[in-house]
Amino acid sequence: MTIHFIGAGPGAPDLLTLRGRDLIAACPVCLYAGSLVPEQVLEHCPEGARIVNTAPLSLDDIIDEMRRAHASGLDVARLHSGDLSVWSAMGEQLRRLRELDISYAITPGVPAFAAAAATLGQELTLPGVAQSVVLTRTPGRASAMPPGETLANFASSGATLAIHLSIHNLAQVVDDLMPFYGADCPVAIVWRATWPDERVVRGRLATILSRADGGMQRTALILVGPALDNTDFQESCLYSLGYDRRFRPQSADSPFAGSVPGNGSSDA
Ligand SMILES: C[S@@+](CC[C@H](N)C(=O)[O-])C[C@H]1O[C@@H](n2cnc3c(N)ncnc32)[C@H](O)[C@@H]1O
Repeated sequence: MTIHFIGAGPGAPDLLTLRGRDLIAACPVCLYAGSLVPEQVLEHCPEGARIVNTAPLSLDDIIDEMRRAHASGLDVARLHSGDLSVWSAMGEQLRRLRELDISYAITPGVPAFAAAAATLGQELTLPGVAQSVVLTRTPGRASAMPPGETLANFASSGATLAIHLSIHNLAQVVDDLMPFYGADCPVAIVWRATWPDERVVRGRLATILSRADGGMQRTALILVGPALDNTDFQESCLYSLGYDRRFRPQSADSPFAGSVPGNGSSDA
């Protein structure tokens, strides 16, 4: 038997991978992080499944659930919001499972930052403007930040910042970023991206505090950086006409000539 860690996506129940859906449907036990995982995702559970909201449980309780399922030979679907690679608390569960010699597998999900970018209708990396996205957060009651992982350090790169778990710290975020990005830098707050009540507030570092209202608590992403409203960025070489590349050699002398896979036609 296997514990299947499954990324349940940002909120919309249909933003779940087919693999994730099929695994949920095949597992007789489902443990889900009820604070963010949408209830509709649970409709994929098979009839009679044991379905447990782990939001009020301790790590010991959760591992006990997994251990009991393992002893009974039952597969488990373990659901966390978004993707599992960031702020899912999966790492500590995997460590316990390794100690117990219980096997697990991981199925990724759509992360909140990608959902928020889709809501905004934006690419977060634009040629010549920003080529990096920093997924970060500010310190919370239960989580200090390691030294060096400060907003100031990340901001000094000029990258697009996707700041999680920090809407309650918005004033501090603005103060920390202002010296690096300037008052005119675009900011977008996406609250409950992909949920039916999703909301977006756009502004600049100088204005975002007055535009954000107190109704946007908890499940919000703060995106900051010049890529958020830049319209005169350069085009990428990828599809530019004269660019010699593997999928579109420009001449018979090109080092890529003869290397086009498939029928030899280019994709651009
Ligand atoms: C515990 S973290 C989970 C992150 C998740 N594992 C992911 O891949 O996005 C929760 C934080 O992610 C962000 N978040 C999660 N879902 C979101 C959504 N639908 N809209 C906006 N932000 C979201 C918020 O910053 C929230 O405080």
